[in-house]
Amino acid sequence: MSTHATRRNLVEQEAERFKPPVFRPRRSRWDDLLAAGRRFLDLQAGSAWRDMRVELSKASGIVLDVGCGAQVFRSLLPPAARYRGIDTRDALDRFGYAVPDTEYFEGTDWNVPPESVDVVLCTEVLEHIETPAPFVDNLFRCLRPGGRLVITVPFAARWHFVPYDYWRYTPSSLDLLLRQAGFRDVRVTARGNPVTVACYKAMALCLIPLMGEGGHPARRLLGAALLPLLGGLAVIGTLSLRSDWGEDCLGYTVTARRPDAGS
Ligand SMILES: C[S@@+](CC[C@H](N)C(=O)[O-])C[C@H]1O[C@@H](n2cnc3c(N)ncnc32)[C@H](O)[C@@H]1O
Repeated sequence: MSTHATRRNLVEQEAERFKPPVFRPRRSRWDDLLAAGRRFLDLQAGSAWRDMRVELSKASGIVLDVGCGAQVFRSLLPPAARYRGIDTRDALDRFGYAVPDTEYFEGTDWNVPPESVDVVLCTEVLEHIETPAPFVDNLFRCLRPGGRLVITVPFAARWHFVPYDYWRYTPSSLDLLLRQAGFRDVRVTARGNPVTVACYKAMALCLIPLMGEGGHPARRLLGAALLPLLGGLAVIGTLSLRSDWGEDCLGYTVTARRPDAGS
C-alpha cells in the first residue's frame, strides 16, 4: 500500500518526466499554423490566447512584456503599440527560451525607468517568482500613472518547469497582492470552468502514450486509438470556454490599473 513514507518525496524531484516543447518565436506563417494547432490541443494556451486577443487589441504606447519567453502574444499588438520584451538570464537554462530581440537581465535589474510604460504584460510568470510581492512592486513601478497591467496565471495546471514552479494563486491572493502593491480596479476572471478543467485533464491522460522517446509499439498504438477522443475533448473544452461558472478553472486573467497621479 502506498503511504506517506513510501511515496516519492517530491522535494527531491529535479525535473519533469516529460516537458512539452516550449513555444517558438514566430518566424513565418508556418509557425502561426503550428501555434494554432498547439493552442487547440493545449487549452491553457488556447484560453490565454483568446483573452489576450481582446485585452491587447486596445493597447497603445509602450508595452513591456515581463518574462516574455517566446513573445507569443507580440503578434496580437496593434500598430499603435511599441513592444519591449524582457526576461531573466535564467530563461534559457531553466525554461528553454532564447529569443534574439529579448532584453535579458540579471537578478531584478530590469533596466526600465520608473513610470515609463503604458501597459505591462506578464503572462504565466507569477507562479515562477520566488518572492512575488517585490516583483509585483516592480511591475507597478514601471507603469506610468493610469497605466494598465495585464496578467495571466495558471490554476488547475500541473507542476511544470520543475522545480521552478512555486505558486498557485486564487482570486483572493491576486487581489491582495495587487492592491498591496498600489494597483486599483483589479479584475480577476476565470479561464474556463469545471468542464474545461475535466477536458484538459482527460486530454493530458490521452497524450501520455504518445509522449516521450521510444516506448513499446503497443503504447503508441493505444495513443493513436485515443486521437479521436483527444480531438473530441479539445472541441468540448474549447466550446466550454464560452460559459462562466463554478470555482474551478484553468487559470485566471487579471487586469489592474496604476492610479492616476493625485488620485
Ligand atoms: C511559463 S514561461 C511564460 C513565458 C511567456 N510569458 C508566455 O506566456 O508564453 C515563464 C517565464 O517566466 C520567466 N521568469 C522566471 N523567473 C523570472 C523572473 N524572476 N523575472 C522575470 N521573468 C522570469 C521565465 O524566464 C519564462 O520566460
